Amino acid sequence: MSAVRDPSMRRSVALFRAFMKEQQDPAHAYSLLARDAADQVERITPLRDRLVIDVGGGGGWFTEEFRSRGAEAYLFDCDAGEMSGAGGGTDVKTGAVVADGYLLPLADGVADVAFSSNVLEHVADPETFLSELIRVTKPGGLLYVAFTNWLSPWGGHEQAPWHYLGADRARRRYTRRTGRDPKHTLGENLFPLHIGPTLKAVRARDDVEVVAARSRYWPFLAEAVVRVPGVREFATWNLLLILRRCP
Ligand SMILES: C[S@@+](CC[C@H](N)C(=O)[O-])C[C@H]1O[C@@H](n2cnc3c(N)ncnc32)[C@H](O)[C@@H]1O
Repeated sequence: MSAVRDPSMRRSVALFRAFMKEQQDPAHAYSLLARDAADQVERITPLRDRLVIDVGGGGGWFTEEFRSRGAEAYLFDCDAGEMSGAGGGTDVKTGAVVADGYLLPLADGVADVAFSSNVLEHVADPETFLSELIRVTKPGGLLYVAFTNWLSPWGGHEQAPWHYLGADRARRRYTRRTGRDPKHTLGENLFPLHIGPTLKAVRARDDVEVVAARSRYWPFLAEAVVRVPGVREFATWNLLLILRRCP
């Protein structure tokens, strides 16, 4: 496991620096983020010989990291193009499945860990997506779900922070400045997901218990910030939910 404390200023600075250079050095940014996420999971449950599914896993950085820790990890993504930029260096395409997270080709209760990083804000129906993750998780198994909420300073993704002035305006500005269309279009592949309603929906379920709800990247007060309605929508940046499937 990493020697860097979570949360800690050192960890947050390292993640933020990597994020700022994500375009120039994606390998560094995503391998660091993958190590960090795997550390977070491994603090709660062992990974060796466990079955891990990485849903919306994109380039496979997280899948590779889980495999490097001895897990039997599988990547699921609905977009084969996203999966082609394999992470790590080993062959992530082995054990990678083109599949929609709404309807995973898996039996009930097979996964020890269901992992989904930064996908929930990209689906139109996050509750159904979450239900499917829960369905395929073993009773007692763990779910790791992190997403960037719409009112986060990074909520507009490549169009942030101009999304605060409206999605259309942010989009026009991006196109004017770069000469190309942004990757994300609100209502098509990016949706205005909020922390309050998401927490309420998760807490209302009787098939999962909330193990942690906290800011994924904050160096301090990571849990406290999520407890303050209103403020949390702007200050959390990225919500990390760790859930346990009820027996
Ligand atoms: C922002 S990327 C996140 C990639 C990676 N998990 C990470 O944290 O860097 C979102 C990914 O979710 C995938 N995705 C979006 N909707 C999906 C769905 N319904 N089922 C499966 N994958 C989906 C996209 O194709 C894309 O690869």
